[in-house]
Amino acid sequence: MGQHIAIVSALHAELAEVLTLMPDEHKRTVGGRTFWSGHLHGHEVVATLSGMGKVAAAATTTLLIDHFKAEQVIFTGVAGGLALGVEVGDVVVGNGFVQHDMDVSPLFPRFELPGQGITRLPADGVLTQVLKEAAEDAVTWLPKLLDATTLASLGLHRPSVHQGLIVSGDRFVSSNTECEALRAALPEALAVDMESAAVAQVCRDFGVGFGAVRTISDRADNEAHVDFPRFLEQVARHYSARIIRKALNLL
Ligand code: ADE
Repeated sequence: MGQHIAIVSALHAELAEVLTLMPDEHKRTVGGRTFWSGHLHGHEVVATLSGMGKVAAAATTTLLIDHFKAEQVIFTGVAGGLALGVEVGDVVVGNGFVQHDMDVSPLFPRFELPGQGITRLPADGVLTQVLKEAAEDAVTWLPKLLDATTLASLGLHRPSVHQGLIVSGDRFVSSNTECEALRAALPEALAVDMESAAVAQVCRDFGVGFGAVRTISDRADNEAHVDFPRFLEQVARHYSARIIRKALNLL
């Protein structure tokens, strides 16, 4: 038996297909959240939805670790692409996480977590490697999932996998002005989401390994509100399941 692994997504569409991989799952509700416990590729797994945003993600992560005794946490979902070349349909595996809306300046440097003395939260090295391998497998499979017309209508090209910094904050970034400001303030950032850095902070507090894999649903620009829901329904749900299945096989 492998480790007890938690799988978290913000939204139902990101987790629905993962749950179909766990036929023996049973449901429990704690703190207003549903937790599905079961098995996947020989691992004990608990899967749940955090809801959107840092507080929801942090509370969920605390329950996963303290109540459900998760030993590793994987977040799978979508994110907005920030860096040049991080396009819709690509996958970003986080190797570090920053809360882009944390600002206690001038008391502490901008983005630093007060009292913790760090800005960039780490990802677990093994989880990151395994998620990257799994993501590389998933992107090769996209052209088989959708026909050429659908791929073109979603603006999907030949997708690639990136590894690097993911930044999180309690905002859906959906304007050119805002994503340019983020790029200027955090030039290393590949993608923006609303949960990863919060989950990373709680995992670090408890000494639990964390990995995050995010499919790019939009470019966090003026079109983001249109691209995001379309991508979520048509692509993200399949990607998540494919990546998680492969990753748990590798772990
Ligand atoms: N998740 C997916 N797209 C996002 C965006 N543009 N901003 C924040 N979180 C996101």
